[in-house]
Amino acid sequence: MRVKYLSPLIALLLISLFSCESKRPASNTPIPLNQEEEVVFLEKGRFIATTTFTALSGKLQEALQQGGVKQAISYCQQAAIPLTDSLSVAEGAEIRRTSLKVRNPQNAPTPTEKLILEDYAKNAKAGKELKPIVRRNDNQEIAFYAPIKVNAFCLQCHGKLGQTLKEEDYAIIKEHYPGDLALGYVDGDLRGMWSIQFTEK
Ligand code: HEC
Repeated sequence: MRVKYLSPLIALLLISLFSCESKRPASNTPIPLNQEEEVVFLEKGRFIATTTFTALSGKLQEALQQGGVKQAISYCQQAAIPLTDSLSVAEGAEIRRTSLKVRNPQNAPTPTEKLILEDYAKNAKAGKELKPIVRRNDNQEIAFYAPIKVNAFCLQCHGKLGQTLKEEDYAIIKEHYPGDLALGYVDGDLRGMWSIQFTEK
């Protein structure tokens, strides 16, 4: 299972070796990882993000087909958390999704996450490729960050109101998330990022 993540990883590493841009730290100054740590934690992070994403979107699609946005929302609330929790325990990691425009205030970025999100947003605006990052933060923990982009499927809950996001569906979303900011996106937009902290030393 893990082997199939290896070749895109090597490609990614090669790309980043030849581009000075991607080596630039977010804005604050993290402690650099050695090359071995960089390879190991990039692979771990990508594995966790891909596994979580596949599981979440599979279940979400199923719930949407069965009972529309209404059912899918209750899935988001009840099932998504235990799912990421069990993966967190298995991998010795804390898995979060965050964004500059959150739906659930519990997903609001920490100061470090905010700097990285702003960097991704700046690079996205400049049309640059957004790459996963691994680094050791001030708390000594190794962290993995990777951008999350919007695709057509996401728009029914995060799209433009009255267009890709139906008014009646948004009414249900608003009931659960009165302070929601996570709408108005189009296909391909940067939506947020994965933030995975490796808590096991
Ligand atoms: C059925 C509606 C629905 C669909 C489809 C959907 N989302 Fe969400 N999204 C939500 C809800 C509800 C939350 C808040 C979950 C929570 O309480 O943590 C959320 C939260 C998020 C978050 C966490 C940050 C925040 O705003 O709280 C990200 C990132 C995100 N969605 C990205 C996506 C992406 C990318 C897609 C498409 C691949 C997608 N979503 C599809 C409803 C949806």
